[in-house]
Amino acid sequence: MSPAKAVLALDAGAPGTAINPNVYGHFAEHLGRCIYEGLWVGEDSPIPNTRGIRNDAVAALRKIRVPVLRWPGGCFADEYHWRDGIGPREDRPRMINTHWGGVSENNHFGTHEYMDLCAQLGCEPYICGNVGSGTVREMQEWVEYLTSDADSPMANLRRANGREAPWKLRFFGVGNENWGCGGSMRPEYYADNYLRYNTYVRNLSGNTVYRVACGPRGADTVWTEVLMQLAGTAMNALSFHYYTVAGEWTDRGLATGFDEARWHLTLRRALDIDGLIAAHSAVMDRYDPAGAVALIVDEWGTWYDVEPGTNPGFLYQQNSLRDALVAALHFNIFHRHARRVAMANIAQTVNVLQAMILTDGPRMLVTPTYHVFEMYAVHKGASALPVALESPDYALGGSAIPAVSATASRDAAGTVHLSLVNTDPNRPAEVACRLSGPVGSRAHGRILTAQDMDAHNTFERPAAVAPAEFTGFSTGEGAAKVSLPPKSVVTLAFVD
Ligand code: AHR
Repeated sequence: MSPAKAVLALDAGAPGTAINPNVYGHFAEHLGRCIYEGLWVGEDSPIPNTRGIRNDAVAALRKIRVPVLRWPGGCFADEYHWRDGIGPREDRPRMINTHWGGVSENNHFGTHEYMDLCAQLGCEPYICGNVGSGTVREMQEWVEYLTSDADSPMANLRRANGREAPWKLRFFGVGNENWGCGGSMRPEYYADNYLRYNTYVRNLSGNTVYRVACGPRGADTVWTEVLMQLAGTAMNALSFHYYTVAGEWTDRGLATGFDEARWHLTLRRALDIDGLIAAHSAVMDRYDPAGAVALIVDEWGTWYDVEPGTNPGFLYQQNSLRDALVAALHFNIFHRHARRVAMANIAQTVNVLQAMILTDGPRMLVTPTYHVFEMYAVHKGASALPVALESPDYALGGSAIPAVSATASRDAAGTVHLSLVNTDPNRPAEVACRLSGPVGSRAHGRILTAQDMDAHNTFERPAAVAPAEFTGFSTGEGAAKVSLPPKSVVTLAFVD
């Protein structure tokens, strides 16, 4: 098939907005096999671990330099009582995880274990507190337990539990989805509650908390408006969740074995986040023209029907090349909104929804999504460059999306990185690039693609989908031509 022709112009000298590395953040909830099995196996497990945390998962996540990890939920956060998760493990009370499968939660993974996981990963913690069913005092005391160095009741309790020095805790969410699973609140009621709870989230012992308020559901700009109006000056960020659902909630389709209609719909729905971010940002701009309050997408990713035969409450799904493209499209969009979007956390890190890692007992694999995190890591902290792109359509069944999506950035060393996605599963695309400003005249590249739309890694073939060297391009003075194979993600670095 003849290639679709796209034209791209980028100015490497343009002033760019820094891409916050936290846009490559992660989310791990007490849900299904994410925390238990996926990250926590316990100290007595035959699976190699460090203080109960599995070594293979930590090693894989360290490779993609996870910047920040959100925990403990999600919907679980507004039912979580942190004091159940401290002290000797055998004494910790059990609870029922009512949101996720009604299973018994033994609280063996609690505050100390989570902070240890963050230390092992070398990432920042981001804790979400309980507004829905917790008290103001409970939230106040959790922050005191974590961050106070005083001779105070909670700091002394922490010391009694074996941790002398306070931790540093920057990111703190005051509730999760409080319009839904976090208490079914109206925006005015939540805004009042936010102000009340937030008052007692203290900056202690030199620790300064970055306060995240619960943001809107979907396209509900009224929520954004009310929160900005009533509480905008008392927050650092508003959180926003967006899941790519390729169908109705009652028929989301499976993660593999789908047809082209589902492929197209998935990518179209992934691209919809662009308009939603723009709509909420426009409201925020009215109240906060300086951009002081961030919009953080602290849950995003694909949400399919669960793998046949698995617990419907565990949200376990495979992860294919389609998910890799969804991830790349999201990053391209987050980079474009770098001024407002200061963090994003994919849901979820292991064994749940659009995971980086899947485990089966002692076995572990990394997914195509993981590879996109690794390939795109060059953009972390770099300056997002404006890209003008004219792309042909990839149309199917009367609906069209751009065949090509692109993002570019300039890193601290001055190297320009260009990332491209060809959404069309059948047709190659040729991208004619005009490059101005200080940009290297040679390039090297990598590609993620596969034969099948649903190509994925299995425990038997864990490297079926993996990045490879990419040579399908030519460079000249101020120009480059890139030949993108169908259904591919490509990254190019321009060097001298
Ligand atoms: O990630 C799964 C769930 O999706 C989270 O618990 C909730 O916040 C969202 O609705």
